[in-house]
Amino acid sequence: MGPPDKNMANDQEKEAAARASLRFIKDGQVVGLGSGSTATHFIKLLGEEVRKGLRIRGIPTSVNSKALAESLGIPLTTLDECQEIAVTVDGADEVDPKLRLIKGGGGALLREKIVASASRQLVIVADGSKQVEKLGKFPLPVEVIRFAQALVSKRIAALGARVQLRTSPDGTPFLTDEHNHILDCHFGEIADPDALARELSDMPGVVEHGLFIGMASVVLLAGGGEIVELRR
Ligand code: 5RP
Repeated sequence: MGPPDKNMANDQEKEAAARASLRFIKDGQVVGLGSGSTATHFIKLLGEEVRKGLRIRGIPTSVNSKALAESLGIPLTTLDECQEIAVTVDGADEVDPKLRLIKGGGGALLREKIVASASRQLVIVADGSKQVEKLGKFPLPVEVIRFAQALVSKRIAALGARVQLRTSPDGTPFLTDEHNHILDCHFGEIADPDALARELSDMPGVVEHGLFIGMASVVLLAGGGEIVELRR
C-alpha cells in the first residue's frame, strides 16, 4: 500500500482542527462562521451540536457559508442586528510564528476580516501544511474595486509582486460576494508583512488585503494525529 493520499490526509487534519475548535463555543454566543474547506468542517460539526441542543447564532463570512449554515438549521443573525461576536472560527492559507495570516484563497477575505474585527476571539483552524516561517509563498489575495484594477495592479507590481487577476473556471474574472475583483499577488517571502499591510491599506482602490495581522487569538494546527495550539 502506498502513502495515504495527501489531500485526504489534509482533509482529515482539517476536520480534526475544526473539531478541536468546538470547545471555544459556549451556549448563548454569537459565533462567526468562516469560509473555505476547513471552516466548512467546522460549520458541519457546529450543525451537529445545534441539533443536540446548543443555542448559538451564527454570522457567516460568505454566501457559501450562509447557505451551508441555513441547510443545517443553524440560527443566523447579521452584523446589522449584532456588532459583537464572541468567537469566530475560520481557516487560513498561511500562518507564521507571530500568528500573522494570509487569508483569501477562497475569495472571502473582505467579509472574513470584517467579522474577525468584530470578534472577541478569532480561532484559526488549519492543517499542518499552512504553518510557515515566512509568509508569502501563497500568493497574497487583494480585493480591488474594478474601476481601479489596472492602477492598483501596477502599484502592487512596483512593490515587487507578480500580479495575477483571479479568474473563474470559465475564464471570466472571479467576482467576490461584494462584486469586486481579486488580484493574486506573488511576492515570494514577504520580508515585512506589517509594512506591506499598511502600504496596501493606504492604496486607493484596494478594498481589503489578505494579511490578517494581530487578529488571530489562537491557531489550532492539526498534524501527525495531534493538535498543536499556538497563541500570540
Ligand atoms: C477563504 C479563506 C480560507 O479560510 C482559506 O483560503 C483556507 O481555506 P481552506 O480551509 O479551504 O484551506 O481565507 O477566503
